[in-house]
Amino acid sequence: MAEFVREHLHETVRRNGDRMRWYPWHSAEYRYRHMIGVVDLAERIARHEDADVNVVRVAAVFHDAAKFEVKQEKHAEEGAWIAQKYLSRNGYPEPFIESVARVIRDHTREPNDGMPMESKVLIEADSIDKIGVAGATLMVMRLGYESRSHEEVPGIIDRVIKRGKSTVERMETETGKRIARERIERAKLMKSWFEDEI
Ligand SMILES: [Fe+2]
Repeated sequence: MAEFVREHLHETVRRNGDRMRWYPWHSAEYRYRHMIGVVDLAERIARHEDADVNVVRVAAVFHDAAKFEVKQEKHAEEGAWIAQKYLSRNGYPEPFIESVARVIRDHTREPNDGMPMESKVLIEADSIDKIGVAGATLMVMRLGYESRSHEEVPGIIDRVIKRGKSTVERMETETGKRIARERIERAKLMKSWFEDEI
């Protein structure tokens, strides 16, 4: 399933080669790695929150599958559609397919009380992957792509830390909050070590 999505991402990057591929997050391989990370985070949160682990894992695999073929606002809808086609072709039961599609469609929305727990879990896992040392490193790489100075690094990490804090405030699950806070602490260390050496 993950390999299918990986191939799909590569194929759409090949077809839409005019997109901004010089940023790491516009590469198929980055998107694939992000997906693997989100699957792992979503599973960890789901287990602690009594959410359906299979629905969450499969939704996480497909959540960004359409990232490179449609506009950002449409990628959740289109990703749900790709998952539905794949899952029915492979004989998964209809109620399972419906639950997975719903969670994928929800993943770009603001969490709300009408959402199933599985949707909230995916939203949290997806946002955690952007904070912490890995998230900060991607933003630092962007400086290089834009020929900017390494002196901007602490400011960049600071922005990632701030974004992390506001992400935590919007979170509902204790597991999500705990993982996010750990990552923020690591980003703070990254910033202080960098400042020590420069
Ligand atoms: Fe994502």
